[in-house]
Amino acid sequence: MIKQQLTFPKDFWWGSAWSAEQAEGFGETGKAETVWERWYKEQPYRFYQGVSSAITTDHIHRYKEDVQLMKQTGHNSFRVSISWARMFPNDGIGEANPKAIAFYRDLFQEMNANGIKIFANLYHFDMPAALQDIGGWESRVVVDAYVHFADTCFREFGDLVFHWFTFNEPLGPILGSYLEDFHYPNLIDFKRGAQAAFFTVLAHAKAIAAFKQYGYASKIGTILNLSPTFPRSQHPADVEAAEIADLFYTRSFLDPMVKGTFPEKLVALLKEYDQMPEDYTLEDLSEIKNNTCQILGLNYYEPRRVKARLTAINPSGPFLPDWFFEHHTMPGRRMNEYRGWEIYEKGIHDLCMDIKENYGNIEAFISENGMGVADEERFMDEAGQVNDTYRIEYIQDHLAYLWKAIKDGCNIKGYHLWTFIDCWSWINAYKNRYGLVALDLETQERRIKKSGEFYKQLSDNNGFSY
Ligand code: NOJ
Repeated sequence: MIKQQLTFPKDFWWGSAWSAEQAEGFGETGKAETVWERWYKEQPYRFYQGVSSAITTDHIHRYKEDVQLMKQTGHNSFRVSISWARMFPNDGIGEANPKAIAFYRDLFQEMNANGIKIFANLYHFDMPAALQDIGGWESRVVVDAYVHFADTCFREFGDLVFHWFTFNEPLGPILGSYLEDFHYPNLIDFKRGAQAAFFTVLAHAKAIAAFKQYGYASKIGTILNLSPTFPRSQHPADVEAAEIADLFYTRSFLDPMVKGTFPEKLVALLKEYDQMPEDYTLEDLSEIKNNTCQILGLNYYEPRRVKARLTAINPSGPFLPDWFFEHHTMPGRRMNEYRGWEIYEKGIHDLCMDIKENYGNIEAFISENGMGVADEERFMDEAGQVNDTYRIEYIQDHLAYLWKAIKDGCNIKGYHLWTFIDCWSWINAYKNRYGLVALDLETQERRIKKSGEFYKQLSDNNGFSY
């Protein structure tokens, strides 16, 4: 087969992403307890092999070495999150922590000095536990505390940051806490989830309003996990179920955060099932309307294939009565055999086209895409390097479709892989490894994988032969 050189637009952002709770380690700056640390104290057995976020890459001590590794793996940009609990060690509120400010400023200066643009995200699942105790995203007090935290970050780091993000995957904590059971405080209650989702959107809008006051040249947006959604068959029940799933999982945050309005159909469904949030005002709605994203990050892992549920009783509450989606099994589809998620590279193109056609072709980038693999040591060669050809292929297959999306007119500015160095992944802890760089959990030693070497060439050539 004849190969073609796929070249990306000039100044394309090549990089990766991770988050504070997953990578930093505790360090000596002082830090409030987060919901993850609280949950671990209460139920350590919920975490894979009983491993907590106390065991990480220890980035807080090794960030200089890590910035060099970013360079060696071709990064010209990188997404971090700023820890709310570290910035405000007194329960997430009050006076900002000078030691935390010093740490992030040092890190950011080091990144800039090495030509790595900073994509700074404000919230990545790490609520200070004391704020969860007063209601978390169900509370207006917490919304205000978040805006204070955001505003402090804009002021302290605005001269160093390239682009800002209000949230990573805001759907995650709502889904995990209120519909399913993978995020503290594990309340299964749809209506409360709707309230928390509404206040999350409000917090996003208020943070953008605060950001605008500074007049920085950087942009601000959010990062959403989106999956193109398909019915599993053309049976009308499956088609309808897919439409509802799409409203819930895709449009619920995308519409208000990018367009400033909630989808009418979604609101109608919430009303029909008496699941509307109770606390919302006209002022909130206009704040949401007036403060939308200037840039959008798209996390893409897998498509959503939806099948109507005809018999079973849905444990998720009254609102999702007769459908469910199965994303982990789909006969006839290519699967990530090491983890069990469907691999559907064309989905990245579908997603970008949706943003182009229905969201004003807003400036966007792939903020996460990647392959989690269990027991990756089995792919280590004799010299001790992880020979992850499957990850290289995965990246290339997705990038080929991303390249096509750009050719088709999508306003895509970059690609960030999940992740840089293998990091702690919530209740899965270190079960699946995603990094370009392998981590030895005993010694914290880092070792670039084959995919890390490939990534460097990719970035140096601004493309690859496919
Ligand atoms: C999405 C999340 O943003 C990140 O925190 C997580 O570790 C990865 N996906 C992998 O599951």
